[in-house]
Amino acid sequence: MTLSSQPGRGRFITFEGIDGAGKSTHLARFVELLRARLGVAGKGVVLTREPGGTPLGEKLRGLLLNEPMHADTEALLMFAARREHVAALIEPALARGDWVVSDRFADATFAYQGAGRGLDVCRLGLLERFALDGFAPDLTLLFDLDPRVAAERRAAARAADRFEAEDTAFFERVRAGYQARVAAAPERYLVIDAARAPAEVAADIEAAVGRLPGVVDAVAAGAPAAVDGAAALQAIAGDRSPEAASASVRS
Ligand code: TYD
Repeated sequence: MTLSSQPGRGRFITFEGIDGAGKSTHLARFVELLRARLGVAGKGVVLTREPGGTPLGEKLRGLLLNEPMHADTEALLMFAARREHVAALIEPALARGDWVVSDRFADATFAYQGAGRGLDVCRLGLLERFALDGFAPDLTLLFDLDPRVAAERRAAARAADRFEAEDTAFFERVRAGYQARVAAAPERYLVIDAARAPAEVAADIEAAVGRLPGVVDAVAAGAPAAVDGAAALQAIAGDRSPEAASASVRS
């Protein structure tokens, strides 16, 4: 059981995928939709990211993305930043009933430092237990894409950081690492085929927001007379904005 399943707590949702799969673009839309739904119930949505999310975490992000280091050091710093992130930002937000959406979380360490860099998964599991003590996302949206397509998208979009400069074989391993995480706990993941047109992916995201049980619960709790669950789902299904249809792929 994750902490967020306790009554009154917010929910914790993460976005994952290899660099270039488009998660950051769709994350912005997801948060916009979620804010519209949860605002009715007086609940906030906190958007954050990893590595980063706190002043210390953002400093560590600068090192992680730019400084050469041993793969173990990389994993330790990822979990150090994550421990701070949970303690200072995620946990307090969930405790006050807000929802938290993070651009990456612990799955990324298993995929990048584990599968990508070749660190032993059991050792990473020890770090995960030390840093997180069983805390995990309620839901993870995984953007799945062929690394060769992702590389083309990245090349068109921006200069590469230390991870993005890795070759296709690295990203093949990272993709497989994510898939192994899904296979181990499929109920936590929504796998999104990110090879499709942005509008199709956006439609999936909207449908996912509509299916989140807590969204309907939160809306019902905050405005019982005005909104019922079925209407909320219909409203979300019909809410396809032009920006979503033309959303460009940024990462
Ligand atoms: P991200 O914010 O997705 O990159 P961008 O801002 O360029 O879209 O992630 C930064 C990089 O950090 C990404 O290449 C993946 C890497 N990363 C890890 O290797 N391990 C981790 O645990 C995390 C959270 C990120």
